[in-house]
Amino acid sequence: MDSIDDSKPVVPHGFNIDTIMRYASRAAYSPLASYLIVNALSRRLKTATAKDKLSAAAALWAAANVVVPGVGKLAGRLFYGGKKAVQWQSEIVVVTGGSNGVGLELVKRLLKAGARVAILDVHAFPIDDARYNDQWKYYSCDITNLEQVKEVAGQIRADLGDATMLVNNAGIVVGKLLLDMSDREVDKVVDVNLTSQFHLIRQFLPAMLKAKRGHIVSIGSIVSFVGTPQASTYCATKGAVRILHESLRREVASRYEANSIQFTIAFPGVINTGLFGGLDLGSFLFPTLRPDSIARKVFAALGSGKGEEIFLPTMANLLPIINTLPLGVQSTICDVLGGNNNAMSSFSGHTKY
Ligand SMILES: NC(=O)c1ccc[n+]([C@@H]2O[C@H](COP(=O)([O-])OP(=O)(O)OC[C@H]3O[C@@H](n4cnc5c(N)ncnc54)[C@H](O)[C@@H]3O)[C@@H](O)[C@H]2O)c1
Repeated sequence: MDSIDDSKPVVPHGFNIDTIMRYASRAAYSPLASYLIVNALSRRLKTATAKDKLSAAAALWAAANVVVPGVGKLAGRLFYGGKKAVQWQSEIVVVTGGSNGVGLELVKRLLKAGARVAILDVHAFPIDDARYNDQWKYYSCDITNLEQVKEVAGQIRADLGDATMLVNNAGIVVGKLLLDMSDREVDKVVDVNLTSQFHLIRQFLPAMLKAKRGHIVSIGSIVSFVGTPQASTYCATKGAVRILHESLRREVASRYEANSIQFTIAFPGVINTGLFGGLDLGSFLFPTLRPDSIARKVFAALGSGKGEEIFLPTMANLLPIINTLPLGVQSTICDVLGGNNNAMSSFSGHTKY
């Protein structure tokens, strides 16, 4: 297995808003840098009292940046014994679409951590590393086929045991106008991206409810919030996945009173896996991500034992807010500033299914 390099920033370097915010927040939370910057600014003030006040505020902020993380670490040690919430050796993780892209990057991290992993994919799992051979099993499975899913779920239970984590990751896109798509293409996009999630959840959730532990992950997209021309079927499935995730999270907590079962959903922008080949949202506001960008965030959420909503890159955090604005404003932001109407014109990703 390739060595895993998690030292790179989650959102790639370059002149983009994420890089600027990364350096700005590093400066703001560094006791020394924040003190020096604010003190330098205070010199521009006119009155001595104002200078003193700002200087005192800078010292207070710097002190807080030393004390607060220290107290946080101490509390973590005291309450959690410094250990991770999840013991990977006792986790059995089902990952759909684990043979490529985001799924593959996630599987690598799960194996390295010690989890046992079931990979469901229509393409063979590409990793051959003797160190991990006992930890994973590949199941050739078209997740749109309910009979196959049922059969494979039974095999996983027999081979590895009851799944404790399920990652609904596999997804496809057909980048065509709705009227240019064949009936089969429409069905296939809906079946892979959405219907399969119902099948898989219905197979693996019951054992999680019984054990009163588990974690279910869905990979949505920024288009879970913003519809895009030439990808209406894909966007519709990603919007539906968001609501499925939300309904299920509430259903499990309120009707089964199983708050211990966690739910994580990711809303990524474009990732350079080839799925959306040719697409460029403009590198400043929506820098293109790597598959490990999302995999690392999902892995961290699983490891923390706490469900999360992952928005990447940073501007994706604004999408739920944009949806609440008047239609005209939404259009201006998405179409004029974000180039949403023509984003798919250059699409050259996977199209044949
Ligand atoms: N690539 C992007 O720009 C992007 C952006 C936002 C969200 N996403 C989402 O992230 C997830 C992962 O995407 P990716 O870019 O890693 O894609 P990818 O094409 O690199 O990998 C997807 C995997 O799913 C598998 N798969 C496809 N159909 C299947 C089926 N019927 N049964 C079983 N496996 C099947 C493929 O064989 C492949 O291994 C998807 O849900 C996708 O919609 C991707």
